Amino acid sequence: MISRETIDEIKSRVDIIDVISDFVTLKRSGQNYKALSPFTNEKTPSFYVVPSKGIFKDFSSGKGGDGISFIMEHEGMNYVEALRYLARKYGIEIKEDNSGSEQSAQHSDRDSLYIVMNYAKEHYKDLLYKSEEGRSIGLSYFRERGFNDRTIEHFELGYSIKEWDHFYTKAIAEGHNQEMLEKAGLVIRKENPESKNVRFYDRFRGRVIFPVHNLAGKVVAFGARILTKEKDQPKYINSPETEIYHKSNVLYGMFQAKNAIRREGFCYLVEGYTDVISLHQAGIDNVIASSGTALTEEQIKLMRRFTENVTVLFDGDAAGIKAALRGVDLVLKGGLNVRIVMLPNGEDPDSMSRKMGSTEYRQYLKSNTKDFISFKIDLLASEAAHDPIRKAEAIREIITSISLIPDPIKRSVYIQETGQLLKISETVIFNELNKILIQERRKNAQETRTRPIETTIPDELGADAAPGQKLDAKSMEQIQEREVVRLLLNYADSELEEDIDLVSYFISEFEDLEFTNALYSNIYHEFYEAKRKGELVDSTYFLNKGSEDVKKLIAELTTRKYYVSPHWADKYHIVFHDEKEKIHEHAHQNVLRRKYRYVQRLIEENKEKLKDAEKSKSIDEIDELVETQTRLKNADVEIAKQLGIVSGRY
Ligand code: CTP
Ligand code: MN
Repeated sequence: MISRETIDEIKSRVDIIDVISDFVTLKRSGQNYKALSPFTNEKTPSFYVVPSKGIFKDFSSGKGGDGISFIMEHEGMNYVEALRYLARKYGIEIKEDNSGSEQSAQHSDRDSLYIVMNYAKEHYKDLLYKSEEGRSIGLSYFRERGFNDRTIEHFELGYSIKEWDHFYTKAIAEGHNQEMLEKAGLVIRKENPESKNVRFYDRFRGRVIFPVHNLAGKVVAFGARILTKEKDQPKYINSPETEIYHKSNVLYGMFQAKNAIRREGFCYLVEGYTDVISLHQAGIDNVIASSGTALTEEQIKLMRRFTENVTVLFDGDAAGIKAALRGVDLVLKGGLNVRIVMLPNGEDPDSMSRKMGSTEYRQYLKSNTKDFISFKIDLLASEAAHDPIRKAEAIREIITSISLIPDPIKRSVYIQETGQLLKISETVIFNELNKILIQERRKNAQETRTRPIETTIPDELGADAAPGQKLDAKSMEQIQEREVVRLLLNYADSELEEDIDLVSYFISEFEDLEFTNALYSNIYHEFYEAKRKGELVDSTYFLNKGSEDVKKLIAELTTRKYYVSPHWADKYHIVFHDEKEKIHEHAHQNVLRRKYRYVQRLIEENKEKLKDAEKSKSIDEIDELVETQTRLKNADVEIAKQLGIVSGRY
């Protein structure tokens, strides 16, 4: 039991900003601090720290409390563990209160696992320097790789003796519990099937040891590398998953790198233990490793707690690149800004650091860092230079990568860049991207698209025409164009489905459908351009800068009076007060109607042409026009079906 006085002292010394800053990058916001929630994957910060009260509140997960609760939540510690952590952080001596009898029995499993892992770490560290075998095999190997004593100590590297139960025997002799050693994955139980005799042997034997630390610096796992070339022996043996070690949540080197990452504002991502360590040795401390596997979402989340910028170091062999590129897509999706350094063929981060001096290496990395998209463009562009089909594929691949970036402003910057580098119009890229985005979101959306509603809204909605007045196809089309503009002006940022706003929806549906009315067309294109730049315009924008015509139209279309005409209500029994709630259906209906009217106009125009062609008896032309007419009719019937109407009676 930790004594009352110690607890009070810890509480009085805890500075909540300081405690939380070890894990979260806080930004000042008035008297308080703000950050992205470390507990969820949010995009806008809702994690607040109030230093005056010594508390934090995370609105996205609902968690909140003082510095101790933060450590408990964040590090998955219990109350006592959190107190011990803070005592260590502030150099407070823990006084035990022994009225609470037997200590060791009270340790939780997690406590015990940390204790035996720490014991094992010390054991392996000692052996590296203090045993003959450790020095001649382990230490000389590290020396060969250029690791100095400081680096070895910093990463707490060690060595495991090449005997069946060297560690096990010592640990038991020093009072450790065999069950705990087994749970920690340090020893392996072996049962003789005949005699039923149980024996234990060490998991790590004759290997150098790389401890894996959690964010608080406690050892949670080991990686052990073989040094000899034995057949049937894996190069690395790693700790199994335990109660304190979940591989997918851990990034190797994060504990040693976290301060440097905050300081530098970015991190280097490499493959393995030795890469991390050799970069440190070269004076580059902001480096972490995925440990040879594809990054997991949790690992990306972990990275994001320290920085949004990651630079991936690729080994320079062609085979690896494609696979690595796929991994990068995941990082983009996690909202991180990705940059790339591609090392020369045959080199890895570690071999490079042995070839170059520290300053030279740092300079090399700096000047060879490329933005990820530019890197991908270069790569694909050279591949596809003389092959138009391959080029089209390459463009799609790049756009797919861009589509993974959650931030629309960043996406728009990449669209520009892609356009310039590949010499294709930004509009084409943007349209393609928008299509992918919407497809993706649809795929992910739980809810399937709603069917067209049966109750139709009067066509005259938004029109100047009096009810009953017969209009030609072009006017009918313009009515729908006007409705597009009206919906945009009033509801541009409304979400129709998860993450799909009205502007994106219209863009994806209308693609290159031309407007017949110039005024409507101009306004639509302002929305379009803004979206492309990741911005949003609204009616105020047009009122401030639009021409007189535009202003007049805006005023008309954004006043309620205009579209809640009692006249329509009488005639069609439709009330519009819930328009915003039903915006999805309105938008969908509008899209269908606009396409319907568009096709109707084309049919009308085609008919006129047909008449002319019949007059001049040009058979070829007639054939072609009849064919067009059939296609248009089919489209007409198709859209009418979706609208739930009978074509021609609408
Ligand atoms: N790895 C692993 N198990 C293996 C092979 C690799 O866990 N059987 C992980 C380790 O984290 C390793 C990383 O993948 O550090 C990269 O693998 P590799 O390049 O083969 O090992 P290095 O540690 O870089 O060792 P070296 O450069 O000495 O070959
Ligand atoms: Mn390697």
